[in-house]
Amino acid sequence: MFHLVLFEPQIPPNTGNAIRLCANAGATLHLVKPLGFSLDDKNLRRSGLDYHDLAAVKIHASLDECLSELAGARVFAVETSGQYCYSDVEYRVGDAFLFGPETRGLPDAVQRRIGSENSMFIPMRPRCRSINLSNALALVTYEAWRQLGFIGSHRML
Ligand SMILES: C[S@@+](CC[C@H](N)C(=O)[O-])C[C@H]1O[C@@H](n2cnc3c(N)ncnc32)[C@H](O)[C@@H]1O
Repeated sequence: MFHLVLFEPQIPPNTGNAIRLCANAGATLHLVKPLGFSLDDKNLRRSGLDYHDLAAVKIHASLDECLSELAGARVFAVETSGQYCYSDVEYRVGDAFLFGPETRGLPDAVQRRIGSENSMFIPMRPRCRSINLSNALALVTYEAWRQLGFIGSHRML
């Protein structure tokens, strides 16, 4: 369905939430190293509960490796400085969404590589800095899935 890419994630419960989200929405999760935790981390396991078996999770040594696997997919950078509001983008099956690390956001070089024409933001009130990473993941994933009629969800079977 979709690909969620976490660039150098740092906080285990956010990645655990991402695993659970991907299981629920039928998305593939891509984790780009270095990770700020071990994949055995108990906080990650707790947040992901037993969803590991239901989610497709791929670990990549670098962003280059990840992007070459996603060749052919549209890749969007999701960042506070993005150009388009996430709800104005017309999503397609196979789209990939790239998110930044919790304390730093996506590096400028990565944002330039993806291009501002492929970037999106989630609205916030003035003077607010950012949304929690796992909330940002959920907002974009469910808007994209909503636009596609929640295909594959349990109510549609
Ligand atoms: C907690 S934020 C990091 C923010 C960073 N500390 C900063 O102040 O720029 C982690 C990631 O969540 C996503 N994110 C958080 N708020 C967002 C927003 N309003 N619009 C788009 N992406 C957002 C981005 O991918 C971001 O890199």
